[in-house]
Amino acid sequence: MPKFMVTGGAGFIGSTLVRSLLDQPNGEVEIVDNLLTGHEKNIADVRKRVMLHHVDIRDASALRPILKGADVVFHLAAIPSVPRSIHEPQASHEVNADGTFNVMRAAADGGVRRLVYAASSSAYGDSETLPKIETMIPRPKSPYAVQKLLGEHYAAVFHSCFGLETVSLRFFNVYGPRQDPSSPYSGVLSLFMRHLLARTAPTIFGDGEQSRDFTYVEDVAGLCIKAANAPSSVAGKMFNAGNGGRFTLNQIWSLLQKVEGVEIAPKFGPPREGDVRHSMADTQAAVAELGHAPKFTIEEGLKKTLEWYRMAEIQTTQGVA
Ligand code: UD1
Repeated sequence: MPKFMVTGGAGFIGSTLVRSLLDQPNGEVEIVDNLLTGHEKNIADVRKRVMLHHVDIRDASALRPILKGADVVFHLAAIPSVPRSIHEPQASHEVNADGTFNVMRAAADGGVRRLVYAASSSAYGDSETLPKIETMIPRPKSPYAVQKLLGEHYAAVFHSCFGLETVSLRFFNVYGPRQDPSSPYSGVLSLFMRHLLARTAPTIFGDGEQSRDFTYVEDVAGLCIKAANAPSSVAGKMFNAGNGGRFTLNQIWSLLQKVEGVEIAPKFGPPREGDVRHSMADTQAAVAELGHAPKFTIEEGLKKTLEWYRMAEIQTTQGVA
C-alpha cells in the first residue's frame, strides 16, 4: 500500500489534495502540519481516514522518521503570502526556505520515490511577456518569490545530486473552498467572497486592472497527483500549474456581483508593495508532459466557491463549525 505524505495537508490546498488522494483506489494518506495557517476543521470530514503529525517543518529531526519510506511527498507547507514575507521576512524564510530544505533532505535520505513541490508563479515577477513560460528568466519581486524559487532550485539539485525524483509546480493564484479569509494576508478571492456575502465593499489595491490566472483548487490538486504519477522523465523539472487565462480584479468583482445579483462599488486603495502587474500561465509543457487538463472555468469555480462560503457562514452563525 503506497504511503502519501502531504506537508501542509490541513491547509487550504493541502486539504483538497488529501481528499483527492483519499478518492483514489489505494494508498494511505498522512499529513504533516503545524496548524499555523492550516486548521483541523479543514480535514474534519476525513479526519478518521488520515494520520495527522502535528509537526513543524523547521524541526528537521522530527520530520525524518515521519517521511521515511513514503512513496510520494507532496510538499505544500508554507507561509503563503507576498505581503507577509515583506512584513515578516525572517519567519517566512525559515519556513519556506529552511523548512523546504529539511523536507527535501528527509525525503532523499528516507528513500522517498518522488517529491512534488508547491512552487509559485510569483517567481516570474514583472517580466512584460505573457503568457509566462517555464524557460523565462525568473525576476522575483518579494522575499516570498525568492524563497519559493530557491525551493525549485533545490528540487532540481536534490534530483541531480541525490537521486530524489522531484517535480516543481508553479501554482498560479489558487482559489476555492476553505481558503481562509480571516487574515490581512488572505488571498484576494477569499476576501471578495466574504465581502460579497456580507454585502460590504472590498478594497482593491491599485486600479484593479492587474490580472491573475486564477486556478481552481481541485484542478491544482489533480495536477499534483498527475505529477506524482508521471514517468521518470519529468524528474528534476518545473511546470506551470495554471489555467492559461487571466482576469482583472475589476472583472472578477463584476462577475461576482452578477452571480449574486447585487451592486456594490469597491473601494480603491494604493497599489500593494511587491505586487506583480499581470500573471498568466503557458500550460503547454504541463499538458504535454503531465497530462494537465483543468476542468473548471472561472464561472464554475467562482460559483462553487461562493456556495461553499455561504454554507460555511450559515454553519458558523448556527454554531455548527
Ligand atoms: C502571489 C502569487 C501566487 C501565490 C500567492 C501566495 C503572483 C502573480 N501570484 O499571489 O502564485 O500563490 O502569492 O500568497 O505573484 N488584492 C486586493 N485587495 C485585497 C487583497 C489583494 O486588491 O484585499 C490584490 C493584490 O494587490 C494583488 C491581487 O489582489 O494585486 C492578488 O493578491 P493575492 O490574492 O494576495 O495574491 P498574489 O500576491 O497575486
